[in-house]
Amino acid sequence: MAYKILSPASNISRPCLRRLPHRTQPIPQLPQRRYISAYGYEQAKALTFSEYGDPPAVLSLHSHSISPPHNNLMTLRFLASPINPADINQIQGVYPSKPTFTTSLGTPNPIAVAGNEGVAEIIALGDKVKSEGYKKGDWVFMKGPGFGTWRTHAAATTDQVVKLDDAMREGITPLQAGTVSINPCTAYRMLRDFSMLKEGEWFIQNGANSGVGRAAIQLGKKWGYRSINIIRGRDDKNAEEKLKQDLKDLGADVVITDAELQAQGIKDQAKSWTENGRAKIKLALNCVNGKAATAMAKLLSSNAHFVTYGAMSKQPLTIPASMLIFKDIHFHGFWVSKWAEREPEEKQRTVADVLDMHRSGEFRDTPFDKISWEWETKGDELIAKVKDTLEGYREGKGVFVFGKT
Ligand SMILES: NC(=O)c1ccc[n+]([C@@H]2O[C@H](COP(=O)([O-])OP(=O)(O)OC[C@H]3O[C@@H](n4cnc5c(N)ncnc54)[C@H](OP(=O)(O)O)[C@@H]3O)[C@@H](O)[C@H]2O)c1
Repeated sequence: MAYKILSPASNISRPCLRRLPHRTQPIPQLPQRRYISAYGYEQAKALTFSEYGDPPAVLSLHSHSISPPHNNLMTLRFLASPINPADINQIQGVYPSKPTFTTSLGTPNPIAVAGNEGVAEIIALGDKVKSEGYKKGDWVFMKGPGFGTWRTHAAATTDQVVKLDDAMREGITPLQAGTVSINPCTAYRMLRDFSMLKEGEWFIQNGANSGVGRAAIQLGKKWGYRSINIIRGRDDKNAEEKLKQDLKDLGADVVITDAELQAQGIKDQAKSWTENGRAKIKLALNCVNGKAATAMAKLLSSNAHFVTYGAMSKQPLTIPASMLIFKDIHFHGFWVSKWAEREPEEKQRTVADVLDMHRSGEFRDTPFDKISWEWETKGDELIAKVKDTLEGYREGKGVFVFGKT
């Protein structure tokens, strides 16, 4: 039984038009199949939105076709795309980097594809792309935010992607490649670029069980830094102990809850961890804010650096003036997207370093909640998974893992 797709007349991607065969007999109930065009048009699905809002309310699964690539275009098939907090903020319209709203996916009104991070393989490419050293089967990740990675396929140009060359890709899983470019790079740069920590010196961080936090623990361990790690307490104390132990297994020296951080006597405890205060706590990494972040800043040594890179509690960051005047704590913000724009080559080196650590077994995967995305997977199922990730206290980061698309 042959199904064909009517080829759009131009190269602009259009929604898929299918010519169905005439039938007189009842159609047998076969599993839904992907339609392959005889003319090289790729069928694609994407989680898209046409207006900002609550993700479950504004997301929908959109089908469209992609023209065969020519000249400087390539067709990508996605392998793994995570659901990061920033993706949610972007759909809500509260993230500084905006996605591209376009009608090029065949809708009358502009839509944007959600998601900012992921890895894809090249399945077809134009001559100019070939002449730049790309080939079928190469893996690429997105150069910057806003590309739209929650999709089975996409058309891209070389200036939108970064190729993982064959050596860099060796021994690396799609999940590792699809999640290397944001969280590990953020942790890496924050540990390296704000305070010259020496071996044996300490940093302190909240959100320690996040993707960034786990990366910071492992990188810190490799470089000889010691770490105090703050997590949110769990109602289930066994689960809390297990989480503490998981982070210690990654290399964390101390793991405490935000309640323990704010309890009486924490300063004395911190002294007991840091050779009576002789070993300095020179750096804090903050993605939470609110009272727990202020409490974390109070443990810093004079002249230390406090880097804010997230706002998970949605609370403001409050800093007592004395920290600035008498302790000379330096407060900074960090955004990996801006850094990567400024330092594209350094970003490549950072990614390469983390992938090397993966290969050598020094860098363990963040626990993942793998969300299987097959061609037949319904939009409702995918959107329900996005909704799940809005809840805290999760055991793993949601990642779309693409199967037979
Ligand atoms: N500035 C940058 O360049 C940059 C780059 C990457 C990430 N980030 C930011 O870094 C943070 C972590 O991102 P990720 O992808 O690593 O996270 P993730 O792996 O998805 O984990 C989410 C983390 O947020 C915590 N959390 C959730 N709701 C919270 C709340 N209401 N109060 C306090 N903590 C809460 C979770 O703790 P529980 O387990 O207790 O829920 C968990 O530790 C996010 O704010 C993200 O936007 C910033």
